[in-house]
Amino acid sequence: MANPSLLILAGDGIGPEVMGQVTRIIDWFGAKRDLPFDVEHDLVGGAAYDKHGTPLHDDTMARALEVDAVLLGAVGGPKYDDLDFSVKPERGLLRLRKEMDLFSNLRPAQCFDALADFSSLKPELVAGLDIMIVRELTSGVYFGEPRGIIEEGNERVGINTQRYTESEIDRVARSAFELARRRGNKVCSMEKANVMESGILWREVVQKVHDEDYPDVELSHMYADNGAMQLVRAPKQFDVIVTDNLFGDILSDCAAMLTGSLGMLPSASLGAPNDAGRPKAMYEPVHGSAPDITGQGKANPIACILSFAMALRYSFDEGEEATRLEKAVEKVLADGARTADLMGPEGGTPISTTEMGDLILGALDASL
Ligand code: IPM
Ligand code: MG
Repeated sequence: MANPSLLILAGDGIGPEVMGQVTRIIDWFGAKRDLPFDVEHDLVGGAAYDKHGTPLHDDTMARALEVDAVLLGAVGGPKYDDLDFSVKPERGLLRLRKEMDLFSNLRPAQCFDALADFSSLKPELVAGLDIMIVRELTSGVYFGEPRGIIEEGNERVGINTQRYTESEIDRVARSAFELARRRGNKVCSMEKANVMESGILWREVVQKVHDEDYPDVELSHMYADNGAMQLVRAPKQFDVIVTDNLFGDILSDCAAMLTGSLGMLPSASLGAPNDAGRPKAMYEPVHGSAPDITGQGKANPIACILSFAMALRYSFDEGEEATRLEKAVEKVLADGARTADLMGPEGGTPISTTEMGDLILGALDASL
């Protein structure tokens, strides 16, 4: 049988630096765990624009649809701020999500014990935190039509449309309930049913999917603004949160920061399973391209490395190897390894991106 295939799109900013450490880890699994992957590299975002004049070349899109999983670094940067909207680096990412039909975006917010002091919340509020945000990723206001900037009378009007079909809500709700069954068995659905029709429909469909097929899972509904407040008031009340594309974008950044650093958080974007049971999938860190620290060897590779751990679990059914990698990360953090983003008020000398990679590889070796 052929090796499973990975397409690496490191992208812009710190993307290539953090992905460099991930490729070392991929090689480690090939050499030491008999898990070889066929890896190819290509461009996305500003890097693709510089070469091809488009943030995602059609050939790259075609490869993304063929491989078993895509690993993405980050897109964007100030250099591209003035580009036309249609060729901005972010459009490359949005095209991948849309054309791969990756409707279920899993964004875990887990607080490592060693980092509880880094949160902007009191350590006791976040120690042991383990929540999973399931963000709808292929619809809603990100893609709804009509959209644009039009002339109306003597001024311009900016228009975007929040739009959700029943089937779009149904499928993402199912993925949240399925996940909840493998975790704390609780789902909180967030929308703004008090002001938005799409929120009313969202709430109805989520409730219906629950009542028909997941009555064993505990379900609650919350307005998304209250959800934001509850996330910073008492985050441990949540297990799985399911929400739409825009609320999910915002709430997941908020949840991410609870854990101390955006440099820690991975994500998985999954489509429907194919005949072999494997979903179309893309894995990426939640953090962006961080132009302010690009090229300085300062970036924390952990979010990107943990994204590969999610790939092992969700695309390749290697849950034990995923746990091995997550434990290795936990170990180096417990031993005090800190990149610059993890420097507390007491300071200290941060280690580099590569040194963090070295330590994680060492911890992997020690796990054998
Ligand atoms: C994210 C990012 C993207 C989004 C941007 C880069 C288009 O913020 O993945 O959360 O808004 O979805
Ligand atoms: Mg975001």
